[in-house]
Formats: sequence, C-alpha cells, structure tokens
Amino acid sequence: MEKIQVNVGGASAFVSASGIEALVPDGKAALAKLTDGTGLGNDFLGWVKLPTETSDELLDDINATAARLCELCDVVVAIGIGGSYLGAKAVIEALSNSFAPYIPSTPKVLFAGQNIGEDYLYELKEYLRDKKFGIIVISKSGTTTEPAIAFRVLREQLEAQMGREEANKRIVAVTDEHRGALRTLANTEGYKTYVIADNVGGRFSVLTPVGLLPIAVAGFDIKALVEGARQMEKATLSGTDSSAMTYAIYRNALYRSEKKIEILVNYNPKLHFFGEWWKQLYGESEGKDHKGIYPAAVDNTTDLHSMGQWIQEGERIIFETVISVAKADNELRIPFEESNLDGLNYIAGKRVDEVNKMAELGTRIAHIDGGVPNMQVLMPAITEQSLGQLIYFFEAACGISGYILDVNPFNQPGVEAYKRNMFALLEKPGYEEETAAIKAKI
Ligand code: PA5
Repeated sequence: MEKIQVNVGGASAFVSASGIEALVPDGKAALAKLTDGTGLGNDFLGWVKLPTETSDELLDDINATAARLCELCDVVVAIGIGGSYLGAKAVIEALSNSFAPYIPSTPKVLFAGQNIGEDYLYELKEYLRDKKFGIIVISKSGTTTEPAIAFRVLREQLEAQMGREEANKRIVAVTDEHRGALRTLANTEGYKTYVIADNVGGRFSVLTPVGLLPIAVAGFDIKALVEGARQMEKATLSGTDSSAMTYAIYRNALYRSEKKIEILVNYNPKLHFFGEWWKQLYGESEGKDHKGIYPAAVDNTTDLHSMGQWIQEGERIIFETVISVAKADNELRIPFEESNLDGLNYIAGKRVDEVNKMAELGTRIAHIDGGVPNMQVLMPAITEQSLGQLIYFFEAACGISGYILDVNPFNQPGVEAYKRNMFALLEKPGYEEETAAIKAKI
C-alpha cells in the first residue's frame, strides 16, 4: 500500500445503501464547489491547490532559514495557537523519536503561545536562561492574545540575552503580508518573514510556512511532506481517488442517523497530536448553526483502559475513525522466558506491533458488535510523505463534509465570543460597553 486508503466496511451496517446513494450527488457537488469556488467561504480556498502551487523556491528558502536557525540556536521556540500551532506540533511529534525527540545537529523545537499558563511561560523562560535560542512567531492575524503575550515575554528575554541586533537575526515571523501588529513589528525590526496567504485559513495552513518552517527546523523533510500532499491533491481533484469523498459521505450519513460524535482513534502514541490537529480542523469547520459532528480523539490502547468502557457500552451516539498504520518503523519481539510467570509465552517471539494490531482488530470488532460504526484510514507508515497525504485527505474531506452539512466550513465566528468577554473583563480600551455589561452579570 503506497497511498492512504479508506475502509468503510465497519460502518456500512449502520447506514442504508440508499442513504449513502442519496448523498453521492451532494458529495460531488461539494467537491465541485471546492474546485470551482462557488461555495460558502470561497475566499478561503487557497489550501485546495496549495501543494501543487507551492514552489520549490519557497521550500528551499524555508530550508535555508531553518539551516540558519540551526546554526545560531540550540532551541527554537515556535509561538502560535490553533492553526498556527497544531499542524507543526502534530507532524513533529509523529516523526520524532519518543525519547530522543531531537535530531542531533537540529535545535530542540519547543512551543509557546498555545496557552496562557503563567507557570508554563515562567518555566520556559527559566529553561531558556542559559540557552542559545531563537523564535518563530506565527500569527495570521498578528493580533492573537496568547501568542502576543508569549512573544512579548520571550522577545524581551532574547533581546536581554543577545542584544537587539543579534536577537532580531534569531526571530522569524510568519504572518499576514500587510496587516496586523506582528507585520508592523517585523517590518520595523527587520525580521525574516514569511507570508500566510489571505485565502488560507489557520486550520488549513500546516502546508504553508506556518507548519513547514518549524517542521524543517526540527530536521524533517518538508519536500517529501508537500509531495505526499501533492499526490493526494491530484488524485482527489481529478477523481482518481475518492477516499476523501467516501469518508465525507459516510460521516454525514452516520450523523443523519444520530451518530453525533466522531472519535479519531490511533494505536500509535506518536499520533496523539495528529488527533489534536484533526479536532481543530473538523470542530472549527463544522460546529456552527447548531449543527456538526463533535470531534473527539483517543490514543489506544492507553485509552481503552479509561474511555473503553464508555465507547463499548455508553450512549450509542458515537462512531469511530481509526488511523491504522501498516508498518512500525522498528522491530521488537517479545522475549521467551522459561518461568513464564506472567503467562506471556504464548506470544513470545511475536512482534510488539503484531500484538498491537490484534488489539486494534479485536477492539474494532468489539465496538462494531457493540453498536459503534467504525471506519478505517489506512496509512503505509508514519513518514513525511504519508503524513502529507493524510493531511490533504482530511482537509479535502473536511471541505466536502462541511458543504454536505450545509455550513460555511471556512469561517469561525464562534471563537470570538470568549475573546470579547476576556477583553471586557481585562478592560481593554474600546471595550467599555462590554465591560459594563459583563460586570453587571458577575
Ligand atoms: O483556524 C483558525 O483560524 C484559528 O484557530 C487560528 O489559527 C488561531 O486562532 C490563531 O490565529 P492567528 O494565526 O491569527 O494568531
């Protein structure tokens, strides 16, 4: 298997063939809207052909910047939140060694600005005190509070440690071409910058410099990542691969039969943050107009010992999508032991991955038997190329699915509500009316 594939066999008993048939025209119309730009939110379709439109010059430039940061820094802090954080985090975690996560000769990539935890930021500052560090600050709007706070704190520290001129050589900003506070600051200070195109929304931006620069700094092959996405883009848009369409149609059919929650399941701890990226992609794209499948994620077999009970026997409003990785990178066999006190000799000599695969299969069968529809996304291995395919697959399916659901998959008006309240409570200038109103409520 070279490309990722979708298996809907474990879901077909839960939806009628006529229900699926009925959605096929909607799925085709949705794909057409993505390609001809006639759907809702069509000013945010820059991601659709992004992989094939990404030039080798840009990738070379990102690799050169990454190499420069590698020379100057032992640690690089990527500052960003939401779509300006999760894609890079997901890919770096998926490709890294779990216990020696940093490739020798590349800087440690750490993340900040994805929360407002005072202890997190304080401890990061302490950690960086005697380090040669750099900053990649990523914000499409350039005004998001969480990364702005982290950037202000860490920039002050970097300037104090290196002097302003040297600090400025170690800061790269990824932001809007013209607008926002970060753009103004970057231009004033002369930071190296990359542009996030206007027509690519945050959660669809992992294959822009937003994701590619931190991934390259971490030592991974961004050309292979983009190449994987290109393969999936060409296959999806030409119709030679209908896996994104199939997945989108099935999840909508399941939603219409009262399956309101989708759980993305992995059996490889390296994919934990891929689940976080996926949750943002689908949650922000579909959860609107009081509609949308709630995206959840579990890491198995770990979570079978916590959430497994609920999934097996709780309310039947869930379905699962399992990311199945065909091949582990390394081989490890279970040793034979004469005493066999733990009773494991029946699997002695087997690969750990074989046991994991049987856990996966056994769980899928148990969940289907227990009334949980189950789809599988099969990937050959966790490599840059297959991750690129997987990213594009889920993005395309998300666009198709959102249009089938009849929402605008590319806006996120709901995320402003908490910000308004926070600004009002913090008495931000310009929010005087909101401050008075919210104070009356508390
Ligand atoms: O998908 C989105 O648009 C959001 O999650 C943003 O990525 C997130 O809010 C960060 O925004 P920005 O990059 O403007 O700082």
